[in-house]
Amino acid sequence: MKTRTVSELLSNNITPPEVDIKGWVRTFRANRFIALNDGSTINNIQCVVDFENTDEAILKRITTGAAVHIKGELVESQGKGQKVEIMVSSITILGDSDPETFPIQPKKHSFEFLRENAHLRTRTNTFSAVMRLQSSLSFAIHKYFNEHGFYCMHAPIITGSDAEGAGEMFRVSNLDPKNPPLTKEGTIDYSKDFFGKETNLTVSGQLEAETYAMSLGKVYSFGPTFRAENSNTSRHLAEFWMIEPEVAFMDLAGNMDLAEDFMKYVLKYILTNNREDLEFLESRLLDEEKSKPQAERSEMSLIEKINFVIENNFKRVSYTEAIDILRNSTPNKKKKFKYIIKEWGTDLQSEHERFLVEKHFKCPVILFDYPANIKAFYMRLNEDGKTVRAMDILFPGIGEIVGGSQREERLDVLKQKMAALDIDEKELWWYLDLRKYGTAVHSGFGLGFERLVMFATGMSNIRDVIPFPRTPQNAEF
Ligand code: 4AD
Ligand code: MG
Repeated sequence: MKTRTVSELLSNNITPPEVDIKGWVRTFRANRFIALNDGSTINNIQCVVDFENTDEAILKRITTGAAVHIKGELVESQGKGQKVEIMVSSITILGDSDPETFPIQPKKHSFEFLRENAHLRTRTNTFSAVMRLQSSLSFAIHKYFNEHGFYCMHAPIITGSDAEGAGEMFRVSNLDPKNPPLTKEGTIDYSKDFFGKETNLTVSGQLEAETYAMSLGKVYSFGPTFRAENSNTSRHLAEFWMIEPEVAFMDLAGNMDLAEDFMKYVLKYILTNNREDLEFLESRLLDEEKSKPQAERSEMSLIEKINFVIENNFKRVSYTEAIDILRNSTPNKKKKFKYIIKEWGTDLQSEHERFLVEKHFKCPVILFDYPANIKAFYMRLNEDGKTVRAMDILFPGIGEIVGGSQREERLDVLKQKMAALDIDEKELWWYLDLRKYGTAVHSGFGLGFERLVMFATGMSNIRDVIPFPRTPQNAEF
């Protein structure tokens, strides 16, 4: 007999009624009712054990966390709370789970505790729902680009260039750390290293994606990126995944249109395909919010928030307009911001971004045309000579979720910008070649995958939306 999933059993009328199923025991109640889950859905199936005719030794081994193989008959449930249930005819314990030591008990656990048990946390409803959602989002992302004529490219993970120029990179080396070869000047001689040069884990696949866009037209990369920034916040990871589309002949306005259309598409996808998980997370969030003071509670439920983003235009605002709004805002005047906005040119902190999104505009915001000196070298300089064609998308509850730009396609201007920032032309000779041979307007952006998952699931800590988070002082599992 074919082994079925819980999801199949709960959604179809399986005929004949005999079924075969494997999963993990969530709870075992009254020596009779097993709530069984196999990861295929947030819902458990109830399996009714005929305890009078079941070996006492077997009954004792039906504990939370145990893996079991059940055969039985799928019938309409006599009890409340479920439509169907399985009348168990045989049960085999595949793997025992000692109830004295199994960390995931059928009760509420704190997210901190579950992070320490990240290898078992997907056995809870919350984390299994989050993980099914991130899987769906990942699929929807590939589906969107596939349907819109993009090619998927894998940017290298080990690289010799610092795309963002921020110097927050993890070195890749196999030199002996105790006794590295030295140059005459006494510095480490990377010419003797594995790659014959200094290399790092990539912070972004953009520069390589640009080379592909300038021949294939529309490409995207979706891969891991690494940042050695020491930010211990609920929105930063040292290892995260980024989606980076790059499109030839597209300007900044086209880039904004693409990003908005794309984000709405993937969110619509999960509304249609992950309804039960979203409803579960929505009720979890409502519960959590009850413990907060009224003023801090969200005005919208999770699904309302997702619908709101899908149904409303993202507000497009220049950096200069945003600075004016912030300078005249109440928290700025009353010195409620940690960083007071005094003048044009200062970088925005997340408190400012969140004020714009959550308090002022109350919708997703695309900020564009930032001062050149707070953005990366590759962004296209505007005619004013001081701003660049950058865009950041800010989301409620998240802050920055997308960063992108129109790229500097003029060789001379790009060279000047690199010289001003002390970026060696020799390191990026191939990047400059794109401006020498058949250069053209082109643009792209990077979406932080885990920040998208945070928004879609309502989880408030980025460590809870990636299987095994890497953060300062933490690389367990
Ligand atoms: O704004 P960023 O740094 O942009 C780039 O790397 C560009 N090269 C992208 C491009 O144009 N192709 O990063 C893009 C996004 C951010 O908006 C944020 O969502 C996410 O990546 N991100 C992080 N997510 C988690 N942890 C971190 N430490 C992150 N740093 C950036
Ligand atoms: Mg950014």
